Amino acid sequence: MRGRNLLGELDTFLAGREHELIDFRRDLHMHPELAFAEYRTTQRIAERLTAAGLVPSVLPRGTGVICEVGSGDGPTVALRADIDALPVPDEKDVSYSSTVPGVCHACGHDVHTTILLGTSLFLAQQAEAGLLPGRVRLIFQPAEELPGGALEVMASGGISGVDRIFGLHCDPRLDVGKVGLKAGPITSACDKVSIRVSGPGGHTARPHLTADLVFALAKILTELPAALSRRVDPRSSLSLVWGRVEAGSVANAIPDDGIAEGTVRCLDETAWHAAPDMIKTLLESVASAYGVEAEMDYVRGVPPVVNDEVSVQMLAEAAEGVLGEDSAVPTEQSLGGEDFGWYLESIPGAFARLGTRTPGSTLLADIHQGTFDVDESAIGAGVRFMAATALTALWEGRRPSAAAEPLMALNLDN
Ligand code: NI
Repeated sequence: MRGRNLLGELDTFLAGREHELIDFRRDLHMHPELAFAEYRTTQRIAERLTAAGLVPSVLPRGTGVICEVGSGDGPTVALRADIDALPVPDEKDVSYSSTVPGVCHACGHDVHTTILLGTSLFLAQQAEAGLLPGRVRLIFQPAEELPGGALEVMASGGISGVDRIFGLHCDPRLDVGKVGLKAGPITSACDKVSIRVSGPGGHTARPHLTADLVFALAKILTELPAALSRRVDPRSSLSLVWGRVEAGSVANAIPDDGIAEGTVRCLDETAWHAAPDMIKTLLESVASAYGVEAEMDYVRGVPPVVNDEVSVQMLAEAAEGVLGEDSAVPTEQSLGGEDFGWYLESIPGAFARLGTRTPGSTLLADIHQGTFDVDESAIGAGVRFMAATALTALWEGRRPSAAAEPLMALNLDN
């Protein structure tokens, strides 16, 4: 990269530090902590960063760490790892199994944390040698699974002054050494909607004297998803699906209230922003047609992660440089949620999938399962990839921009 032997520098770094990083990951794996309770994890991260001469700061709630490497002019690039575990029992028979009953790093966040730590140590060396052309903000984010940790980081000013942000997630369907990339949306949104309807109840012999609430609720349950599907671009895959409905207690009495709950899933950011108002308007029109009152409680989940195209190119360039020419492969948008999407609502960036499967293996332990584990050589691959991504983004960010052009024009005139 830029005439430098980045690959060789990474090889040397990892030859000395890879075992230590694997030990660090196993320690986190044995001591998993749930969202916003990652105190031990936070302490371990801060200790390692401090020992490397960096100055980490812990987020106001006491979990999660932000730390900056480098100084001076140049762009600021952020790298983010999530640090929390899941309320899932560990079912693996390994020496580093979880020691906390019912809690496990079943989503690989221990691996993400270790990769970012390794990347931090490498970048600290680069900065010391005067080789870092800007600043790298390291974000060890708490509570991705809640979700909400990204909002906590943002409320603490964690991405202010950041030009571009990158993150990754373990992918057990990809071999170690491969990274899955996609421009545009790569994860989905999932919100919860709860509807309460009310109106005069009475005897089923005289529905005309009541709001006939069960009938009205049934209309809402069927009309709302149908009408919604005709109001948005079908490519957004906005779908309202009911999971719970409750009204009445006996066959011959019309109740005076009822409730329906469901989820709203969406692949597209624009449709996601429009969804609550659209659903509310449709609900009011169906409810008024049947003479019932309807109230809606809409709980936002995470937005889809929408990858910026230029940032994805940087990820691809980095992967090619340090993992091999064919290391970057296309990946698909998943219906899962990831709170990295909150950052990308404010600044450009991209999220990648990191291969964690042993090449040749046919075993598939998916994330969020108690059997999930990774091929630990993914840690070294992840460090190479993240370090190269940060350096690529810093160098690209320094390329002559519009601001530099007038000066060149002036030189020509002279
Ligand atoms: Ni995860």
